[in-house]
Amino acid sequence: MLAGYIIFWILKNEAHIANVAIHPDFRKRGYGEYLLRWAIERFRKKGVATITLEVNEKNNAARNLYDKMGFKIVGKKAKYYENNDDALMLARFLE
Ligand SMILES: CC(C)(COP(=O)(O)OP(=O)(O)OC[C@H]1O[C@@H](n2cnc3c(N)ncnc32)[C@H](O)[C@@H]1OP(=O)(O)O)[C@@H](O)C(=O)NCCC(=O)NCCS
Repeated sequence: MLAGYIIFWILKNEAHIANVAIHPDFRKRGYGEYLLRWAIERFRKKGVATITLEVNEKNNAARNLYDKMGFKIVGKKAKYYENNDDALMLARFLE
């Protein structure tokens, strides 16, 4: 059984997180945060300066998670999702 996954890519010194998801039975146990911390550590080692991602404006769980991990809102994409929900563009800059 797969409890969760994170999908990202690195292009030169930029990383983009395409998705992070935890199986409903395993949520609220710290696994999402663990995966994100693991990815950010990997980005640091690879010399990444900027991490970007999109999140549904209505997705409070994910927004809280990214806020906790130091991501800031840098833009908005109107009607980004198939159901016409808006996306927020988030970024975190690594030293
Ligand atoms: C978003 C998601 C990955 C969080 O995973 P998780 O393992 O449940 O999260 P964690 O237990 O590691 O929680 C870390 C932080 O996220 C936030 N958070 C997680 N679940 C939350 C919820 N239901 N409501 C509000 N905040 C929540 C909190 O800030 C939490 O920190 P805290 O425990 O100190 O309050 C999970 O809810 C999920 O898979 N959602 C569906 C997929 C999705 O929306 N992915 C994001 C795509 S951009």
